[in-house]
Amino acid sequence: MSTNRTATLTIDGKSHEFPIMVGTHGNDVIDIRTLGAKTGLFTYDSGYLSTASCQSTVTFIDGDKGELLYRGYPIEQLAENCSFLEVAYLLKNGELPNQNQKTTFEGTIKNHTMVHDQLTRFYNGFRRDAHPMAVMVGVVGALSAFYHDAMDAADPEQRSITINRIIAKLPTIVAMAYKYNTGQPFMYPRNNLDYTANFMHMMFGTPCEEYVPNPVLTHALDTIFTLHADHEQNASTSTVRLAGSSGANPYACVSAGIACLWGPAHGGANEACLKMLEEIGDVSRVGEYIKRAKDKNDSFKLMGFGHRVYKNFDPRAKLMGKVCADVLAELGLENDGMFKLAKELEKIALEDEYFVEKKLYPNVDFYSGIVQKALGIPTSMFTCIFALARSIGWMTQWEEMITDPEYKIGRPRQLYVGAARRTVKPLSQR
Ligand code: SDX
Repeated sequence: MSTNRTATLTIDGKSHEFPIMVGTHGNDVIDIRTLGAKTGLFTYDSGYLSTASCQSTVTFIDGDKGELLYRGYPIEQLAENCSFLEVAYLLKNGELPNQNQKTTFEGTIKNHTMVHDQLTRFYNGFRRDAHPMAVMVGVVGALSAFYHDAMDAADPEQRSITINRIIAKLPTIVAMAYKYNTGQPFMYPRNNLDYTANFMHMMFGTPCEEYVPNPVLTHALDTIFTLHADHEQNASTSTVRLAGSSGANPYACVSAGIACLWGPAHGGANEACLKMLEEIGDVSRVGEYIKRAKDKNDSFKLMGFGHRVYKNFDPRAKLMGKVCADVLAELGLENDGMFKLAKELEKIALEDEYFVEKKLYPNVDFYSGIVQKALGIPTSMFTCIFALARSIGWMTQWEEMITDPEYKIGRPRQLYVGAARRTVKPLSQR
């Protein structure tokens, strides 16, 4: 929303005014879209530390308060009171569903959980030991070759079908990646199970016997999906928006988001965090790793700590810690060594002046690996779970971008610091 407030920039003695826009919550922004035309200058913001790339109504994060809102609702209340599919409905439609809307949406998603049978052949192109995220990038991208019947992004109905297909098929594709890796047969979705129970059936069930999901563990995983559903303009969401801004196929855009999420600085941190805890191995070695994390000459970072926006606790980490404790209690693993090591690492790090001064707190990835391991999900699958949950956030943000009246293809500029203009010499003179 524009106001009558302005920011004045004086360049070479000439003043230029730029409007200040205010939102519902959070930082106001200076609208600098005319800066280049007015001054011939660009702003420089590598890593986008102070840049708002869009206006959005979906998610809000207050990094100082440790607050996360999906469509205005605090994540704590959503995790406590709603299923992941209710949260997916909220993100997609802007409001929580009533009972009829919830029942209809659940039924719609159930009717899209199967994948085209030819899609199963893509898995055979991968080695059995391929990283599941490599499989996800390939198979989700391949979906773009299957659904040309609903590809007019200007048609709200076709956008809705596409988003529902992504929500419905990601669990099936993720579970198939796991089964392919293990050599077990793919499990078809079962419509008599709810969304997350069905996912656990496809992951851990076999044709040999009835799989009976544990309601406590299913609820825990459903909550983990909710905690990962969206998170403003993080790297992978910005990737989906940028890819989508050219009008690219939305399934291909999700594949680009999966590729970005894979990195250890982003969604790959949960896998990296568990590997780090396994490497530390014992509380007696925590000090050594804290020391390495503080050493400027050592590239080691404490995985699962720190965040670009949260400069206080990540509310999701707190909720994830509780989910972790509930799962370990249900499985009789209260004395799980990894969990105790993580709790000790968190305690020591939060008392260390380096972490306090740099405002490095546990993020969503810190406990996520421990609880997923306890649920029987292998480390290599952790980021696939993240991608499954985040796909509703990506698609919601994609649709918001596509329907934004100010929507343009994203095309950042640069500060060129390369070779000055020069002339090519003939080969004999080079
Ligand atoms: C996710 O953007 C999102 O919202 C992402 C996410 C989402 O839901 O989409 O929340 C999911 O990606 C969570 C983050 C998971 N990544 C990790 O846990 C990896 C470890 N964390 C760091 O790589 C880092 O904290 C980032 C990438 C998360 C944030 O990096 P920034 O904002 O670019 O900050 P920075 O790297 O510049 O760090 C600031 C300072 C640096 O020291 P100085 O150069 O100022 O001296 O803090 C230090 C860093 O060296 N630092 C760490 C550290 N994280 C930052 N030092 C030790 N251990 C760490 N984990």
